[in-house]
Amino acid sequence: MSELISVGLGDRAYDIHVGAGLLARAGELLAPVARGIVPVVTDAHVADIHLPALLDVLGDAGIDARPIIMAPGEVSKSFAGLEKLSGELLDLEIDRKGLIIALGGGVIGDLTGFAAGVLKRGVAFAQIPTTLLSQVDSSVGGKTAINAKQGKNLVGLFHQPKIVIADTALLSTLPRRELLAGYAEVVKYGALGDADFFEWLEVNAAKALAGDEPAMVKAVAHSCRMKADIVARDERETGDRALLNLGHTFGHALEAATGFSDRLIHGEGVAIGMALAFRLSVKLGLCPGPDAERFTRHLKAIGLPAAIADIPGSRASADELVGHMAHDKKVTDGKLTFILLRGLGQAFVTRDVPLDAVKSVLTDG
Ligand SMILES: NC(=O)c1ccc[n+]([C@@H]2O[C@H](COP(=O)([O-])OP(=O)(O)OC[C@H]3O[C@@H](n4cnc5c(N)ncnc54)[C@H](O)[C@@H]3O)[C@@H](O)[C@H]2O)c1
Repeated sequence: MSELISVGLGDRAYDIHVGAGLLARAGELLAPVARGIVPVVTDAHVADIHLPALLDVLGDAGIDARPIIMAPGEVSKSFAGLEKLSGELLDLEIDRKGLIIALGGGVIGDLTGFAAGVLKRGVAFAQIPTTLLSQVDSSVGGKTAINAKQGKNLVGLFHQPKIVIADTALLSTLPRRELLAGYAEVVKYGALGDADFFEWLEVNAAKALAGDEPAMVKAVAHSCRMKADIVARDERETGDRALLNLGHTFGHALEAATGFSDRLIHGEGVAIGMALAFRLSVKLGLCPGPDAERFTRHLKAIGLPAAIADIPGSRASADELVGHMAHDKKVTDGKLTFILLRGLGQAFVTRDVPLDAVKSVLTDG
């Protein structure tokens, strides 16, 4: 049971394989692109659980894989993390025409993709995403980055992977909170461009999140297909790709206001951000109220936060949150960019949003 999605980017086109148990086929899928020493970059959590199985199948396929283990969490997506990783990759004398494998969540994928993009002016890399967020979002589309002290993802480049292998069985070891946070990015695809998918999720998401493999494979594959279509149309985010930021302007502001701490993890910020984008769209008379209510109802039913009040601890003021938005990189010529909705499945990009309405949603939401 696996699905194949092609990302149509001409000479940088690649395949995304989605299926339950695909790790067992990683050797066979990677052998055609592997060459010489093949570093496998992962973090200490994933190394404990999934690295031995991957090293076994790569070894069986005759691939000379060498693990590099980073500290888990955002701390590794930093200049210090890049220095450590680059040093280890260079010590292995990686071939400029070789391959680097990223085995992990978005942190490992973003860091490894960035290191691969800059080392020796660009080495190929493969993504084996192990979180739901990375399977449906960060492993696809070629955005790579590390964080700077001025903000997240500010130092990066576009570097498309050679292949993505998303094994949904790996998600069974993911903490429930991380699984749900990743689900926010799945439901985002329904909200932004596919009302039928949203309806399917209303019926099937709980099942998928409880371990039903066919349902999870369908949810991941459909999400990847939607992202692949958008990326193929607009690789460098000059237009449509911005739709993928639905909920992110609000979400990042909430993450910043909670100090990027455990109080609110990225996907939870996106979930609340999407609910706020719906509420702002209703307030501006763009979206029917019942669509926004239906969206919020689904988030709650799945167990995701849907309002600012759902974040534990003290609440940031609307002014403080708008201040954080102004520092976000989605600001062009001093104007905030929002993704708003005309209804479920009908998102659009706008820079024409009255600040008063934003503040009022941040105060009520
Ligand atoms: N490049 C992009 O387009 C893009 C898109 C969205 C998000 N991102 C980035 O992705 C990052 C977040 O990614 P994430 O949510 O995957 O976080 P993550 O990589 O930090 O993983 C979350 C946690 O889960 C653990 N983990 C990973 N896989 C596991 C598994 N199968 N079983 C048990 N534990 C596992 C990790 O060790 C970590 O502790 C952020 O840095 C964000 O900026 C990038």
